[in-house]
Amino acid sequence: MDEMEVIGNQKEKPDSTRPTFFIHTFGCQMNESDSEHIAGLLTSYGWQKGNCPEESNLVIINTCAVRAKSVDKFFSLLGRLKEIKKKRGFKIAVVGCVAQLEGEELFKLQPHIDYVIGPDNYLELPKIIDHKEKITSTTWSGHWREHPYSLIRRESQVSAYVPIMEGCNNFCTYCIVPFVRGREKYRPARFILEEIKALADRGFLEVQLLGQSITSYRDPESNQSLADLLRQVAQINNLKWIRFITSHPKNLTREIAQAMAEEKKICRQLHLPVQAGSNSILKRMNRGYTREEYLEKIAMLKELMPEISLSTDIIVGFPGESEKDFEDTLRLLEEVRFTNIFSFRYSPRPLTAASQWPDDVPFEVKRRRLIELQSLQKKIQLEINANFAGRIIDVLCLGRSQKTPHLYCGRNEAHQVVNFSSSLEVTNKMVKVKITSFGPYSLHGEIVPESI
Ligand code: SAH
Ligand code: SF4
Ligand code: F3S
Repeated sequence: MDEMEVIGNQKEKPDSTRPTFFIHTFGCQMNESDSEHIAGLLTSYGWQKGNCPEESNLVIINTCAVRAKSVDKFFSLLGRLKEIKKKRGFKIAVVGCVAQLEGEELFKLQPHIDYVIGPDNYLELPKIIDHKEKITSTTWSGHWREHPYSLIRRESQVSAYVPIMEGCNNFCTYCIVPFVRGREKYRPARFILEEIKALADRGFLEVQLLGQSITSYRDPESNQSLADLLRQVAQINNLKWIRFITSHPKNLTREIAQAMAEEKKICRQLHLPVQAGSNSILKRMNRGYTREEYLEKIAMLKELMPEISLSTDIIVGFPGESEKDFEDTLRLLEEVRFTNIFSFRYSPRPLTAASQWPDDVPFEVKRRRLIELQSLQKKIQLEINANFAGRIIDVLCLGRSQKTPHLYCGRNEAHQVVNFSSSLEVTNKMVKVKITSFGPYSLHGEIVPESI
């Protein structure tokens, strides 16, 4: 998803008597959340989190396999670590989706890797890293494995990721996720509610419920749906904002939209990946909806919540995508007017159905389409953001902006980045900000001092 550069936790000086680990995380929010679980687990075994590979005994790389580019980034990091490892002698653990995909093959490709651990095996990590010899652990369990949430070492003290399901049964023809995260497994609602209550008691103001196909969620114990769960989460005291990601359009129900409309704590913001605007492409992507059905869902959301902020994912250059198909995607962006999009050039992935088809849209065409798409979207975002000028909005402040440290940085209900000035320290607070200017990708403003 999009990146907001916030200065995170203060760096601590490592204690020389304790073993130190360093984690580098690629990929989605689920991976970020997994890294927080791993960090907490290792901390409970006496390890401490270091600030760089050089000062660590163990370097963990949490990998993403979704596009060739994500895998390339991982291998280039490994290349750099190889040189540092020669001097420092740390162990390297590769975890996450590339670990699951490649398994033992990784040792052959890169002999300086020590451990390979898939997403369903993190609980074994403290045991595995005790071993001198190389170890692979990539077995799947068919049911949800509850991690002790009290151990999680979270990056933010105000906004928390809460996984509620894992895996995906949708098998979009381009996507590797079902092969690296397995079939859908749902977390019992009582654990989810218990964790969120504990977070709210500790002062967390926002939770982001996570799952690769979150709209399929069913409580394995009561069979209640995502809509029911959202309503229960909304009853938790002291919590301000609830978000959930990622929804699949085909099972985004009216009940979910109604829960969003009726429960004030559920943000009127939804990420609803469309992928393409052409019916023939959607069909070959195996998305399970047509352009018209997608637009009906959007109309339903806008009818219940006229002010809703929508975002999406788009792939350009899928096999067989013609200029006409691409035009359909551009027209869809104009029609929906998303607040934000994440757009990618199609990249064939191992094990997927589409990887058997010719990758027949030339790179230059993919590149041109991506630029065209992004420049149309930029224009739409500028228009949307112009409506914020002069308004006073709620912002959850997440820290200081990394690029401009004299400014604070946060998100509004629409999940847009808001940079603002304040003479008072407001990190981790919900504040009111008056918007004074805007760009296509962020809003800028100043704090309303009475709101603190
Ligand atoms: N439902 C998932 C989606 C993960 S992949 C979730 O948890 O968010 C994120 C996005 O990557 C997809 O929505 C899609 O737009 C893009 N993507 C997936 N496979 C791709 C591929 N082979 N080439 C290009 N983009 C891809
Ligand atoms: Fe991938 Fe499709 Fe599942 Fe999303 S819904 S994770 S794009 S297979
Ligand atoms: Fe990447 Fe795995 Fe997430 S492939 S997008 S890290 S589920």
